[in-house]
Amino acid sequence: MSKITVGVIFGGRSVEHEVSLLSAKSIIRNIDTGKYEISPIFIEKSGMWRRASVSSWLEDGGLEFSGDSFLSPSLNPLNPVFYEISGRDLISEHKVDVIFPVLHGTYGEDGTVQGMFELMGIPYVGASVLGSSVGMDKIVMKALLKDSGLPVPEYVGFYKSDWESGKKQLGARILKKIGLPCFVKSANLGSSVGITKVKSKDELPGAVDYSCRFSGRVIVERAVKKPREIEVSVLGNDDPQASCPGEVVPHREFYDYTAKYLEEGTGLIAPAEIDRETAERLRDYAVRAFRALVCSGMGRVDFLLEDGTNEIFVSEINTIPGFTQISMYPRLWGVSGVSFPELVNRLIELAIERRRQADGLESDFSEIGRKD
Ligand SMILES: Nc1ncnc2c1ncn2[C@@H]1O[C@H](COP(=O)(O)OP(=O)(O)O)[C@@H](O)[C@H]1O
Ligand SMILES: [Mg+2]
Repeated sequence: MSKITVGVIFGGRSVEHEVSLLSAKSIIRNIDTGKYEISPIFIEKSGMWRRASVSSWLEDGGLEFSGDSFLSPSLNPLNPVFYEISGRDLISEHKVDVIFPVLHGTYGEDGTVQGMFELMGIPYVGASVLGSSVGMDKIVMKALLKDSGLPVPEYVGFYKSDWESGKKQLGARILKKIGLPCFVKSANLGSSVGITKVKSKDELPGAVDYSCRFSGRVIVERAVKKPREIEVSVLGNDDPQASCPGEVVPHREFYDYTAKYLEEGTGLIAPAEIDRETAERLRDYAVRAFRALVCSGMGRVDFLLEDGTNEIFVSEINTIPGFTQISMYPRLWGVSGVSFPELVNRLIELAIERRRQADGLESDFSEIGRKD
């Protein structure tokens, strides 16, 4: 049987570029090389795509490159092919069977790159265009979760222009509906960028102005009291499965950018020490959230458990979760009985399965119209 070529795309333009490198390295190290061939594509921070050679990088040396790479979005039998060019010369062509985008955040996890894969008709791992973009927008995501009867913290979402045209009234409305303390966030970022915890009335305008620097839309949420941060990994397409829950214990006031990337000290506990009934509820909510947000392949659903009441709130989904050796997504599957190589294998199979299903759908309406 010939091997399946997996185009692993990593790096990218977002602030999570470096995390993507770590995630890609552990995916490439853990892939079943008896079954899969890797075709690595690195996206520089500048946005330039380059075919990479990873052998010395995997031994902790540097990535090596020849030319630049590009893809053609046209749907033709030659696709999907990465064309490698140097100046105006074509150096080589590399056909891939399936793509594994290991890109966190903007231009990778938000549906943009997924749109190109759809045009090319190639299978790709993880959420579709819709699932990806919904998962990157905290206002749309919260509305869909709420509509499905899942518990989310009280929130208000608005445009930067609403804020600029009436700071006083909008500020008063936020304080009345949400109260203090609250979390002010840019609607479409990750990694805790653009987020402030607001404890007093006077801090609110500065926090909203700050979020407006990063995004044209802002969400303000009620602060869940001293929350336990619980995460559940989900795997599957239409009938997804949930892992056991894990817990993140940030050593700072909340799980901010510094706690995530700059300082050590955040505890990752897998499985979480939690009673069986709560664990089952969390797993059930995780699957419901995954489906409500139209996800496929993989997703890590994050929860906040309120201190005292133990009330559960769904916080968000990450459609391309961290994949480093110590990241929660693969770790939770590890303790739930799915090894890293088997997880990667399942994700690729799910991508191919979804493409086949989509290819089997009617796409010519002229005949259907005639029958009616
Ligand atoms: N409503 C909330 N109540 C309490 N803590 C919150 C709330 N919203 C966010 N946080 C804290 O901020 C962190 C980042 O928020 P999150 O919505 O997950 O953004 P990101 O997509 O950047 O990870 C959370 O992990 C949590 O520590
Ligand atoms: Mg988060």
